[in-house]
Formats: sequence, structure tokens, C-alpha cells
Amino acid sequence: MYAEKIENLKKEKDFVILAHYYVDGEVQKVADYVGDSFYLSKVATQVSAKNILFAGVQFMGESAKLLNPSKHVYMADDTADCPMAHMVTLEQIAEVREKYDDVAVVCYVNSTAEIKSASDVCVTSSNAVKVVKNIKNKRIYFIPDNNLGHYVAEQVPEKEFIFCDGFCHVHKSIDKALVEAAKKLNPDALVLTHPECTADVLEISDFIGSTSEILDYATESDCKKFIICTEMGIFFQLGESNPDKKFFSVGHRQFCPNMKKVSIEKVISVMENPENEVILSDDIMEKSCIPLQKMLELAK
Ligand code: 13P
Ligand code: SF4
Repeated sequence: MYAEKIENLKKEKDFVILAHYYVDGEVQKVADYVGDSFYLSKVATQVSAKNILFAGVQFMGESAKLLNPSKHVYMADDTADCPMAHMVTLEQIAEVREKYDDVAVVCYVNSTAEIKSASDVCVTSSNAVKVVKNIKNKRIYFIPDNNLGHYVAEQVPEKEFIFCDGFCHVHKSIDKALVEAAKKLNPDALVLTHPECTADVLEISDFIGSTSEILDYATESDCKKFIICTEMGIFFQLGESNPDKKFFSVGHRQFCPNMKKVSIEKVISVMENPENEVILSDDIMEKSCIPLQKMLELAK
């Protein structure tokens, strides 16, 4: 019933729907493109529809607008915001730049457009290692995610890192004891983990990657059982692509309340009466798209 209504609205109002793996499966089902942050930012540069409906959190809609400014980008819910995006300030960046004139400010896309405007290059969890390796500067200020920053630093030992203390509360709350308990129940399962998790969880994991990479790994693996250390929305695509495999969570905390604000009813409502449009000032548009474009270039 919903699906037909949404297909008609897409045609009638010239909409394309982009959804992150963490939104409800029901919403993923009606989306034209579903993926991780990197995939969705690449898609945003290519869509031909006049209007983009973003089923995700604020920074994702902002990135789509920055990468394709002629489009109207609407959030399914404009209060869906990533707390980590606000865990670094312009003052902190200015302080580090003042102290080190050779620093490159590397900004995880989970950040506000304003923070991107003061950064040199953006990264996502699937391209961070590659992008950082490709930056000329030896000194890196990695903002805002401390866990992802440390993970990247381990893979790129030739660089010197300055870290920030931002974190994702969803991934941080997946603690080692929960993973060990899940492993005890299913000793033959592989542990697949997002790099926003803490270092002690990464240490006991069999694979570390972005949401898309976790999905690809599970799909290509001969193993039939997996313990999944990331937000639970990914279970929908894992199940769709792998009906013969079993996926286990590590506890009730794998839930991003902001991603779960996006509902099918809100998607329909915004398409019927477009609201929650992403509007950015000309100054921010001009400055913040530079690090995003640079990411696309360095991640090639
Ligand atoms: P990826 O989409 O890069 O896997 O990041 C996960 C995330 O936390 C997005 O909010
Ligand atoms: Fe932010 Fe974490 Fe939610 Fe992703 S899962 S939107 S990083 S709080």
C-alpha cells in the first residue's frame, strides 16, 4: 500500500529517495539508493531528479546538498541529528591550526557543515585510511571521532595524529564483555565490527569496516554465522542478501534513536508537502563543499 503511494509520489513530484542502512527496513525498502555514508555521498553527485528525500541524519542531507547544490534536499525528519556531529568546535580547530601550521584537518563526515567549512578534507568510515594515506601532510588533526581516528592511525603509522574526543554513543556502548558473551553463545560466528567501536572491541573482531563493507564481507564469506557490532538497522539488508546465514546482535544498545526517527509516514508526508528542506548559507556552501570534493578525489 505504502510502496505504490511512494512510487506515484516519486514520479509526480520528481523525488529520489536516499536511505542509510541504519533507518528502518520498511524505509530502506522504498528507497532508490541504500548505502553507507560514502556511497550515499557519491550517489548525491549523480542523481537527476530535482528533489532528494534523505532518510538519514542531518549531516547526510547537508552533504548531499553540498555535493549537488542545484537539487532540493529534504530531510524525512529534520530533528534526526547525529550527536557526534557537534562534538568538535571551530575554536578547537583554530587552536590546533595556530599551534601547528603544517596540520591537515581531517573531518569525519559525521560533522556539521560549519565544521566541514573549517576542515581540509572529509572522510567516511570506508575511505578514511585511503584518504589519510593520500594526504601530503604528515600531521593530521582527526575530528570528531576518537575511535575512528585511532583506528586510522594504526593503519597509517607513518603519520602523526592529534585526536579529538568525539564519539558515537551507539558504537561506544557496544562493550567488549557483550561481544565476548555473544561469542561464547556462538563460538563459530565471525565478529564484524564498525570502526566507531572502541579499540578493545576492534581487537577481538575478525573484520573491521563500514556498514557497506560489513554487508559485503558477510555476503562473500563462506561462514554462516556472524556477530554484528554496529547499529541494528543493518540487519535488514544482511538478512535480505543472505537468507541462508545467521546474524546475531550483542545487546539492546545497538540502536541509534536519531536514525529511528525516520518513518515511512514521515517520508510520505514530506513528499506530499515538501518541508524540512536543507538550507545552507552561500558562504558555508562555498567553503564546505571543498573538503567533500577533495575526499571524492583522494578516495578514487
Ligand atoms: P558508515 O555509513 O560510513 O558506515 O557510518 C556509519 C554511521 O555511523 C553513520 O552515521
Ligand atoms: Fe551518529 Fe552513531 Fe547515530 Fe551514526 S549511529 S548517526 S554516528 S549517533
